[in-house]
Amino acid sequence: MDTIILTKDDIAEIVNRVGLHQLMDDIINKLRKTFRNFDDELTQVRARDGFSYLTPYPGVLEWMPVMQVDDFAVIKVVSYNPGNPLLYQVPTIISTLSLYNIRTGHLMALTDGTFATALRTGAASAIASEVLANPASEVVGLVGCGAQAVTQLHALSRLFDIKRVLAYDTDKTVLASFSERCRFLDLDIQIVPREELEAEADIICTATSVGLDAGPVIDAVNLKSWVHINAVGSDLPRKIELPLELLKESLVCPDYRAQAVIEGECQQLEPGEIGPELIQLVKNAPEYKAYQMSRTVFDSTGFALEDKAAMQVLLSLAKEVGVGRTLPVESIALDPMDPYSFAREHVGSELTRTATAV
Ligand SMILES: NC(=O)c1ccc[n+]([C@@H]2O[C@H](COP(=O)([O-])OP(=O)(O)OC[C@H]3O[C@@H](n4cnc5c(N)ncnc54)[C@H](O)[C@@H]3O)[C@@H](O)[C@H]2O)c1
Repeated sequence: MDTIILTKDDIAEIVNRVGLHQLMDDIINKLRKTFRNFDDELTQVRARDGFSYLTPYPGVLEWMPVMQVDDFAVIKVVSYNPGNPLLYQVPTIISTLSLYNIRTGHLMALTDGTFATALRTGAASAIASEVLANPASEVVGLVGCGAQAVTQLHALSRLFDIKRVLAYDTDKTVLASFSERCRFLDLDIQIVPREELEAEADIICTATSVGLDAGPVIDAVNLKSWVHINAVGSDLPRKIELPLELLKESLVCPDYRAQAVIEGECQQLEPGEIGPELIQLVKNAPEYKAYQMSRTVFDSTGFALEDKAAMQVLLSLAKEVGVGRTLPVESIALDPMDPYSFAREHVGSELTRTATAV
């Protein structure tokens, strides 16, 4: 009954051995397959829930559960704290992933979720773009150039022949380091005014930490008629990145509708104005080909099915590469009826019967 633990060093070793491009390809392929084969009789996804606070910045700590019926469950715990980089020099998104045996409740594995979240969020946008964007897209615009923007660009670069990247962020310091953070991609990255980005991009990713009621983050007055937008940053009630008029004239596809109507761009729309979910897009991709030359939006809130796929890839690569360790986390011992027996086994004798007087 041990628990597999993957530390950041283990995951760094996976990256070193497998390579970032191969890893992103593995995540994209796994996610695409997960969507294509999704069967809600076999896999149950729940909308996330959590705790929130409003000052000094709005932040949340959330749990995102998914169960493979009669088999295992993955629960991601993820926090969104946009003050983190400035206040504590740690990422806005910090997360851990845990895997449970449904039959026994045993914690089978515990891994980092921060890297996995960034990978799978990029991969989901790339998959949505693969279905909805003009396949000849060459110019990618990034509004918000923080952590998620790196994997948005990386994932898109695996599926599209990108010639130019246009970057915009309200924080000049973040913008200044973006090219260096993406140097491994060997792409032509230009810092441009937002108006220029909007006018020239074939695919736009909005991945901002815009505040509540502070959006939208683009004007959408001069977009290409075929632009595809991956709206990644809208994931709280009252946090939106796109103008309502743009949503109304576009095919808007949420990743997980039940969640997107509460905290995605879809919170701005009436039920009849919302398009198919990402799973439907992937299952019936040829049906949506006609939309590749019109305006489309992927409303990405991030959902638990994606986390399950990412965790499975990491655990499987860890086994292949031979990293990770096992630890006996739970107090399970030989006598299931005696909650103290694990401690007796540990000391190898009877426990002290008399409590120390306080
Ligand atoms: N959909 C998903 O699955 C998913 C997954 C992870 C994170 N997110 C969301 O994506 C967003 C970005 O996350 P991150 O980890 O990159 O955060 P981050 O803090 O690393 O980067 C966010 C960037 O947005 C910039 N920004 C804020 N307001 C802006 C505006 N109006 N215009 C342009 N830039 C602006 C900030 O300056 C910052 O550089 C967050 O809102 C996060 O909650 C979504």
